[in-house]
Parts: sequence; structure tokens; C-alpha cells
Amino acid sequence: MAIIVMVSAKGSPGVTTTALACTLSWNGRTVLAECDPAGGSVLSGYLSGLEIPPIGLLPLAAAALRDQLADTFAHQLVDLDANRPGHRLVLPGINDPIQSGTIRPTWESLAAFFADLERREPGYDVIADCGRLSTGAPPWPLLFRADLLLLVVRVETLRTIAPAVGAAEMLRRELTQHGQGPGALALALIGEGPYRRRDIEQRLLLPTLIELPDDPRTAEVLSDGGGRLRGNQRLLRAAASAEPAVRDAIARRRAHLAPTSSRGSSHAR
Ligand SMILES: Nc1ncnc2c1ncn2[C@@H]1O[C@H](COP(=O)(O)OP(=O)(O)OP(=O)(O)O)[C@@H](O)[C@H]1O
Ligand SMILES: [Mg+2]
Repeated sequence: MAIIVMVSAKGSPGVTTTALACTLSWNGRTVLAECDPAGGSVLSGYLSGLEIPPIGLLPLAAAALRDQLADTFAHQLVDLDANRPGHRLVLPGINDPIQSGTIRPTWESLAAFFADLERREPGYDVIADCGRLSTGAPPWPLLFRADLLLLVVRVETLRTIAPAVGAAEMLRRELTQHGQGPGALALALIGEGPYRRRDIEQRLLLPTLIELPDDPRTAEVLSDGGGRLRGNQRLLRAAASAEPAVRDAIARRRAHLAPTSSRGSSHAR
């Protein structure tokens, strides 16, 4: 399935929570890569009860500069699921936006490395939380490599939807200019509001692949930690049920992009 990038236009619609919900609920082996240039949140949020040494994206980027990505990667991960070791991993992000300057020159090699993870044994998909498009420089090489680029939108009010119009337009333009075409773009809609899904899709000219309900109780544990997942966890169930559509969309896009001779190969890009 490869690289799924999640971004937002601005504000905090729930990118990190959605990325974590998918990582915790999908069947495939998954690495949640915290690539938000404004900083990662999982260590200070969901995993805040744990003592974790300073590992993650920053040491990995340093290794990329030394051409030692493959040797370093496994040591930069935190396992999220004691019941299924090695199945759901997180690569913690930077803890200070100033560190994004160190990462920036390495996005290209990091993106290529992430793209290759699905071909390893065992293979991994990468869900990359790339944060807000409005703050600093987004990790464009990673966005251009994405098999699926999800714009996360909170649908509560017009105020939360409106910024996505310009963001969708910019993403379409950037992807087209870089020869990718806008085919990888889709929406992750969070919460409920007065606007119908179809109207939002028509306004943003994008299909919806993930739709998550308002579930503050589960979301709070995922975003802030300090509690146990309780109740019926509508959020995680909805995230789990989105996996087949996501896999299907990626498979269809790959089949469409593949040269005729290699059509049908699951690894064709
Ligand atoms: N499906 C949901 N239902 C209810 N609350 C949610 C949901 N998803 C996220 N939230 C809440 O919204 C807030 C923002 O979530 P989160 O940190 O994931 O957003 P973000 O887009 O990653 O923000 P930032 O750009 O600041 O990193 C948190 O308080 C979180 O608990
Ligand atoms: Mg976030």
C-alpha cells in the first residue's frame, strides 16, 4: 500500500489523531511517520506516560546525511502494540520546529526510503503525518511520493471547511506541476456539520476516502494520552472500516499509472 500522507489546510482538524487511529486499527503492518515540520505529538500525547529516549525522525535524518538510513531506521521506532509486536510502529517526529531545517535536505531520501518499506520482508505501509500546509515548508518530496494524499478537513462549520478550498487547489497545482497529476488526492472528513459530504466533495473537487465521527472521548486519548481507550471507540471502528477503500483507491491508481506491460503487478507505481 506504501505511502499515505495526511495534511491539513490550517488549524487542528485532527491530522495526528486520524493518522494514529488508522495506524492502531488497520490490518496491514504500518509505520506512523511523524513528519510535521512543526513537531511531532505522539510522544507528548498518546505515549506521554512512557519514558522514551530521544529517537525518531531527527536521528534518522542525520543518518540519511551519512547514507546510513537502512542501518538506523529500526532503532528509531516505538512499538505501539504489545499484543502484536512489530505490527504498528511510530517514528516520532522532531520536538522543536527549529529542527525542521536539519530534516529539510533529507526529505527526498527519506521519501524514497519510506516508499521502499512495502517491498521489505516484512513489508510496511507508511502513514505520514505532515501537519499543516500553512505553517513553514511542507515536506514536498514526501507529498509528491504519496500513493494517497489525504487532506484532513473538520466539517463542523464553514470556518473549518473554507481553508480546504485553497489548500486543495494548491495541492492540485503542485502535484500537476511536478508531473504526478492530482490522482492521489482525496479527503478525510472529520466530525459532523451542516454540510453534506457530497456538497463538500463538489466544492473541493475531491472524493472522500475516510470519514470519522466526532468521538471526543477516544480522540482525547489518542491526541493527549493519559487515559485508556474505553467505550465503543466509534473513531477507531470508523478508521478500521476505511482501510479497504484506501487500499482499493491505491490499487486502482497504481493500475492506472502502470505501463500496460506491468499492469496487474501489485508493486507497479
Ligand atoms: N474524530 C474526532 N472527534 C473528536 N475530537 C477529535 C477528533 N479528531 C481529533 N479531535 C480532537 O481535535 C484536537 C486536534 O486534534 P489533532 O492534534 O489530531 O489535530 P492536528 O490536525 O494534528 O493539529 P496540529 O495541526 O496542531 O498538529 C484534539 O483535541 C483531538 O482530541
Ligand atoms: Mg498534528
